[in-house]
Amino acid sequence: MEHVEKIIDDKIQGKALVTENKKDNTKKLFIESYGCQMNMNDSEIVAAILDKEGYNTTQVLEEADLVLVNTCSIREKAETSVRKRLQKYNRVKKESNKKMKVGVLGCMAERLKEKFLEEEKIVDLVVGPDAYKDLPNLLEEVYEGRDAVNVILSKEETYGDISPVRLNSNGVSAFVSITRGCDNMCTFCVVPFTRGRERSRDPKSILEEIQSMVDKDFKEITLLGQNVDSFLWFGGGLKKDFKKATEMAQATAVDFSQLLDMCATKFPKTRFRFSTSNPQDMSLDVIHTMAKHKNICKYIHLPVQSGSNAMLNAMNRQHTREEYMELVDNIFKIIPEMSLSQDMIVGFCGETEQDHQDTLALMEYVKYDFGFMFAYSERPGTLAGKKMDDDIPHAVKKRRLQEVIDLQQKHALYRTQQHLGKTEEVLIEGTSKKNPNEWKGRNTQNTVIVFPKKHYKLGDFVNVKVEDCTSATLKGTAVGYSDNN
Ligand code: SAH
Ligand code: F3S
Repeated sequence: MEHVEKIIDDKIQGKALVTENKKDNTKKLFIESYGCQMNMNDSEIVAAILDKEGYNTTQVLEEADLVLVNTCSIREKAETSVRKRLQKYNRVKKESNKKMKVGVLGCMAERLKEKFLEEEKIVDLVVGPDAYKDLPNLLEEVYEGRDAVNVILSKEETYGDISPVRLNSNGVSAFVSITRGCDNMCTFCVVPFTRGRERSRDPKSILEEIQSMVDKDFKEITLLGQNVDSFLWFGGGLKKDFKKATEMAQATAVDFSQLLDMCATKFPKTRFRFSTSNPQDMSLDVIHTMAKHKNICKYIHLPVQSGSNAMLNAMNRQHTREEYMELVDNIFKIIPEMSLSQDMIVGFCGETEQDHQDTLALMEYVKYDFGFMFAYSERPGTLAGKKMDDDIPHAVKKRRLQEVIDLQQKHALYRTQQHLGKTEEVLIEGTSKKNPNEWKGRNTQNTVIVFPKKHYKLGDFVNVKVEDCTSATLKGTAVGYSDNN
């Protein structure tokens, strides 16, 4: 899952998610997930809920009793892809599977609500991200011939009591959600509207879920949230209500750096990653905790969106370019080998050529290892959608995006070259796509590395000598097991 956002837009699309099935389950569920890792993890929660209702997963659309698509609203293109997918379901329903029911989950369900039923005749069921526990009731309605909708956003729901069924799993790495929703209200972003307000999950249930993954021999856990650094457990409820909590609850609250410390201490052989960090909520405590534990990977996805103060302000990002640079300086001071990645939006409302140059200059300053870059896509309902003019012509957005991508590629190559000649610990995650005789894994910095399989196995931690690289991948040779085995 190295290039998260690329997967979002291009790769997972139209692919059924499957798991080992129970023998006595009789109904068939075809489920697919668009968008972020959080959606993927939500699909695993949905699969767990439906497993109890007698559903096995299937890869064959034509034989499904129930088709669920977990949707993304982040950019217009993401929504267009889902609409196209619904047309495909429609054809299958007409031609070969008349009994099949179709449900829409996730951010598009939340954004469009009942409108979905009118706009897309194929849809029987619309369920928002906080209402998955209601699926058994909603399905009853559907099988009785009524359309069913639940898009209520919750103050409490974290699905902490549900043990997700892992879908398309490599048996080595898994996601564990720690927060839901986002309070940041970046003016371009639809997430606060589709996923609701921020709430954190009980650390006890997080540790229990990790324990169950470790018992099943998983080796790497990615802690997930729209804004993980904002994690704050004080007994439950919305983060904005923290000040209303009792003194006792406030005094014993657990923040993100403490949660990380708890995880890394309790499971010293497990690798930990986390995503996503909003710079404004990232504390240096987190960096110190990362420095303290070898098993917390030295990689931070630290989206900045723009290098221009005017744009950051218009986007309602709560930091300046200078503050971001200071944060980056401090990170490298504490952990010089840290790898950083960015999200950038080009062509936001009013972006001048100078603003764009500021973005390129900031990138030159940080030299990110990876990047996920997007042309601004206006989203209905957001502040920018309502109040600002999407005034940058398509051709200009396209050109600026290409400049940002080209520069990122240059920096990625610069960063991969720094690994040449080094011997690095790698967790084996699967077979290389290009060569069946090679393993694929990642080093602590999240850089993908491929090497001949020899006698090593999936899930092994091995030391790999880096001999060659492209801007995206390292190539090497395994020289032995690492001491983490
Ligand atoms: N905190 C979140 C961010 C979600 S959105 C997370 O967990 O990743 C992921 C990225 O999509 C954002 O960082 C931003 O770069 C991009 N994005 C969000 N809204 C967008 C829009 N309206 N147009 C273009 N890109 C957008
Ligand atoms: Fe979106 Fe900003 Fe939150 S990008 S997910 S509103 S941190």
